[in-house]
Amino acid sequence: MHELVNKVRMLRAGFVFSEPQILEIANSFQQAMTDGLTGKGSSLKMLPSFLTKPTGREKGIYLAIDFGGTNVRILTVGIKGNGEYRILKRRSFPLQDRGKGYDFTSREATGTDLFQFIAGQIESLLEPGQIYPLGFTFSFPSQQTGVNQAILIKWTKEIQTSGVEGHNVSEMLQKALVCKNLIQVIPRAIINDTVGTLLTSSYIDRYADIGSICGTGHNTCYIEPSSPITGKPMIINMESGNFNELPATKYDLQLDRQSQIPGEQRLEKMVGGQYIGELTRIIIQDFINKKLLFVSGRPEIFFTPYKIKSEDITRLLTDESPDLTDVSQWLKTICRIPHSLLEERITLRTIASIVIIRSIQLVTATFTGVLKHIDPSLEKRHTIAIDGSLYELMPGYASKLNITFKNIFKGKSDLIETKLTKDGSGVGAAIAAAIVED
Ligand code: BGC
Repeated sequence: MHELVNKVRMLRAGFVFSEPQILEIANSFQQAMTDGLTGKGSSLKMLPSFLTKPTGREKGIYLAIDFGGTNVRILTVGIKGNGEYRILKRRSFPLQDRGKGYDFTSREATGTDLFQFIAGQIESLLEPGQIYPLGFTFSFPSQQTGVNQAILIKWTKEIQTSGVEGHNVSEMLQKALVCKNLIQVIPRAIINDTVGTLLTSSYIDRYADIGSICGTGHNTCYIEPSSPITGKPMIINMESGNFNELPATKYDLQLDRQSQIPGEQRLEKMVGGQYIGELTRIIIQDFINKKLLFVSGRPEIFFTPYKIKSEDITRLLTDESPDLTDVSQWLKTICRIPHSLLEERITLRTIASIVIIRSIQLVTATFTGVLKHIDPSLEKRHTIAIDGSLYELMPGYASKLNITFKNIFKGKSDLIETKLTKDGSGVGAAIAAAIVED
């Protein structure tokens, strides 16, 4: 028992940061932003979007494709010209379905298959005779040479489809649309989901200048007051999930080694929903190996990579009953551990909460770095528009993020607001297409 308490204490000490440490990370993030913008070596790609804030006067009916993971969403959006919009139709579909025998995210699938499959899903949403300018949210690091041109640099979030990295995804989609004879769909803009989130939030909040996704993946964009390309304001997709000047624990190193792209997306691997379950699993596995948990067995689930999902972490953290009865139920039904001790259940929950607290602290540190870059003495109001399952659904995520901000910015923290922006990645693509049409 004493040994277990000690091990948890050590875990916390290795994971949870003090305020000065958070500020130190914020400072190196800020430096990495400057380095990335000025073309010096940096883990932040600082990719141009060729877009700035919408005016709110954009108008018309648009089609949006939102592809950022294994589920794709397509929607038609009516934009009214007075800063309002309405989602007219929507549907989503998976890119992998074992039952139906396809997986367009695997190495065996090609980019041509993938884009043809996506294009093939669009027709059911279209009205005859209507022309649809298209906004495409493609949420992977892509080098843009214009608002409608993007080359995929590297897949993230464990997607592996062949023949897409290094290729122009706008052209691939265009070809697939032609192939499916969808001539009333006219690609106008390609954006990152963070950019979509910021554009959507700008419709309702004039202080929005930072957009972020805290979900399966993690990334942030912001409005750079003076873009190196145009000298004017431009939204920059930082690809901050790749930030790497971070103190890593042995668990992070193990997760990174066993991932698709070791050495990359280091921040995302510490904070993103794709990885927090796995990180928690790796820690629990270590505790089991050290005979500190479940001594009488070897529960397979904790020895199988990616078996623990962020939904499991949500479940662990939601249980507020004194005996952690729901955690006990979860252990029985999902983990096949019929009998668990209360201290084991408490330990699991504590491990999960330590992983989540660090995720919140790191995200706050990067937001702090951005704020210091755009407003060094924090004189103006800023809204950070955030979408994603962690921010929206993980118990305590949003509130602890705001508390961390309060502690860092003290009296001035009222100038900063974080705001859930639902559907931003889809609606934002329609707004981006509308900006181009305007
Ligand atoms: C991608 C980003 C994206 C983020 C959130 C990351 O893996 O590299 O482009 O914005 O996930 O979806």
